[in-house]
Amino acid sequence: MADRIEWVGANTRLLKEIAAEFRATQPFAGMTIGTGIHLEPKTVALLLTLRDGGARVVATGNLNTTQADAVAYLRERGITVIGEATRDAVKHQGFLKEVLASEPDILLDNGGDLFDLWRQAPTGNLIGGTEETTSGRARLEPLRSSLNRPILVINDSPIKQFAENEHAVGQSVLESYMRFTNRVTNGQRVTVFGYGACGRGVALNFKGAYAKVSVVDSDPLKRLQAHLDGFDTPARAEAIASADFIVTVTGGGRILGADDLPLLKDNVILANAGHFPAEIDNGAIAGSPQVASTETYSDGIASLTLRDGRVIHILAEGHMVNLAGPRALGNSIESMDLGFALQARCLEAVALRRVDASSCVVPVPRDIDERVANAYLDLCYPSAKPASRPA
Ligand SMILES: NC(=O)c1ccc[n+]([C@@H]2O[C@H](COP(=O)([O-])OP(=O)(O)OC[C@H]3O[C@@H](n4cnc5c(N)ncnc54)[C@H](O)[C@@H]3O)[C@@H](O)[C@H]2O)c1
Repeated sequence: MADRIEWVGANTRLLKEIAAEFRATQPFAGMTIGTGIHLEPKTVALLLTLRDGGARVVATGNLNTTQADAVAYLRERGITVIGEATRDAVKHQGFLKEVLASEPDILLDNGGDLFDLWRQAPTGNLIGGTEETTSGRARLEPLRSSLNRPILVINDSPIKQFAENEHAVGQSVLESYMRFTNRVTNGQRVTVFGYGACGRGVALNFKGAYAKVSVVDSDPLKRLQAHLDGFDTPARAEAIASADFIVTVTGGGRILGADDLPLLKDNVILANAGHFPAEIDNGAIAGSPQVASTETYSDGIASLTLRDGRVIHILAEGHMVNLAGPRALGNSIESMDLGFALQARCLEAVALRRVDASSCVVPVPRDIDERVANAYLDLCYPSAKPASRPA
């Protein structure tokens, strides 16, 4: 019986087309691509596509999201995978340094770790690469002068914003909440911290699941947008105190901390969907003198009983909730196929020197966005050939 990795491989149809092309064109022949990215079935499809393009691929995972079967599958197919799943940030740094020790020509970064480490101790003849996330872009922007290479930010593609960040993260955070807790959403009060593309998707999906959703965002424009989208935008303290479920998805640090314990409603569930686990200060909350005892349930649920009798639950210790817990499947295959098609095309543009150092930490070039959008639409509507649509 074929397994899930094969199912995903069969359904990442854009990548399948690109891999077939790359086997002929070999854009990465003789090059090493280094990456630190969530290692799961969809990234397997991407890394194998890069391998098919002639690259030697050296990969490690991200904090806490590496899946052992994905690692084994990659290793069997010639990808060098460094390390294993870890929540230990120091150990993870060591794995990233090992990736850089392979002297990559191109980096596929996810959160800015690899480019930042490379900048501090440059290795090899790095041409440039890609950065997947919002958080990574924010981290790399101030470093442009020392990076001084083409770095295309996948997250800044409008396709990634609406297809993955909004629609797919929204769906998968809802799916993950149900999978973790098996608890009702109907009539529950949900507070979403952050109303960027991800937060908007989360809010809309919980609204669609009959929850009463409030939004907290430090940007008044985003609060206005949330208000006009029909969400409540109460003051922070009120939004925390009223919530049955609070999810952070801001890209910032310490959005919820031990200071907030007095506000929390009995039986509230806390989760984070932002890239870094620092959005919920799990260490400070768990170690607070207000916590009388902790019960840990299987599948990554921690229930903290406070001295006044209230109980609060934290999912996955504040790690990205849609990539953690029981049988985490993450975002939909198609949304990731779109994002990874952008990745493959951007890495190809870097390898073939179609972009130069003037494109350091910039969005995906428009021609690549259009190419990927047309390719997806062609798969959905095979009879409507590009010539029949406006270019
Ligand atoms: N879980 C996933 O699968 C997944 C997928 C893609 C991105 N992400 C991550 O999700 C996070 C959000 O991504 P995005 O694209 O929506 O980012 P974004 O920058 O578009 O939106 C973040 C929003 O959070 C708000 N914000 C920042 N600090 C805040 C604070 N202290 N209180 C309230 N609001 C605050 C900002 O004003 C902004 O509107 C990032 O860390 C990103 O890397 C997660």
